[in-house]
Amino acid sequence: MPCSVIVGAFWGDEGKGKIISYLALKDNLDYCVRTGSVNAAHTVWVDGQKYALHMVPAAFVNPKCNLFIAAGANVHVAKFLEEVELTKVHNRIAIDQQASIIEEKHAIQDKASAVNKGIGTTGWGVGPAIEERVRRTAKLAKDIPELKPYMKDTITEINDGIDNGKKILLEGTQGFMLSLFLSGGYPYVTGRDTGASAIASEAGVGPTRVDDVIIVYKSFITRVGGGPLPGEITKEEAIKRGWFERAAGTGRDRRSAPFDFELAKKTAKINGATQAALTKLDVLFPECTGKRRYDELSAGAKQFIKEVEVRTGVPVTIIGTGPDALDIVDRRE
Ligand code: IMP
Ligand code: MG
Repeated sequence: MPCSVIVGAFWGDEGKGKIISYLALKDNLDYCVRTGSVNAAHTVWVDGQKYALHMVPAAFVNPKCNLFIAAGANVHVAKFLEEVELTKVHNRIAIDQQASIIEEKHAIQDKASAVNKGIGTTGWGVGPAIEERVRRTAKLAKDIPELKPYMKDTITEINDGIDNGKKILLEGTQGFMLSLFLSGGYPYVTGRDTGASAIASEAGVGPTRVDDVIIVYKSFITRVGGGPLPGEITKEEAIKRGWFERAAGTGRDRRSAPFDFELAKKTAKINGATQAALTKLDVLFPECTGKRRYDELSAGAKQFIKEVEVRTGVPVTIIGTGPDALDIVDRRE
């Protein structure tokens, strides 16, 4: 803080939504800026209710937090309006006037594309929408009448906020290993750079103005769609270990693999991580479920956390021990 980036370390679904919702409540965030597009679902549990958000920033759980959609983002109009209704954030959400629009035709193109079948895209049309923006034929948010009430120059407000010491979180979507440019996984990647620098760039924040990069690791790794997953285990084995998940957005089975220390070290470095969050510790160590103090964690869990720190060189400051936004061990003090 005051300006932090949240970036996923692996192939998405690390639990960024949960970490962001915790920080929104605990640190009293003033602004949360969502990047990317509708393909990413951020899961937030609060007061026993589950939200899988495709457009609204996960910090909505704090009623005082201003919610922005970044200039570099692609807005799905119907999903945005539906989620604004669901979360009742009408009076504190804004879309940057330069954000572009993802349309139904993009989803049709995405689903029809033979290439995308091997990649296993989410089918929302994010790749085609970005192509259209690059061609300079995309609609912008300011062209859409229903979005008029939400238009803002968010870039100026965010940068003024940084000048004035406001607490700002830049919400990355997906994971670093899906980066179009940097992951090494091309073509099994998404249509944009998902790294920390790109998250800041999409929001209009220069690299020297970011104070913290919080990389989010999950205690095991999952991936949806095509492409390599080193150390992948079978679905049967995943079920046995309690790692089997279904995608919050598309409902597809997530593939899974054990935590990869080498990969975690590499992605921490490329993203310039200053801290790490480690989610779903309770899945590896069920005795840690719901614990909120470090000294309540089991010896095995502490050993695992220590190994993550030693092998990545990044302090593990925020640890998830259950689905609720507040099921967290916070070691930042
Ligand atoms: P696209 O982003 O829909 O073009 O999909 C490209 C690849 O990224 C596919 O393997 C998707 O499964 C994956 N992907 C896109 N968004 C997410 C996400 O939010 N979580 C996990 N995987 C994602
Ligand atoms: Mg997700």
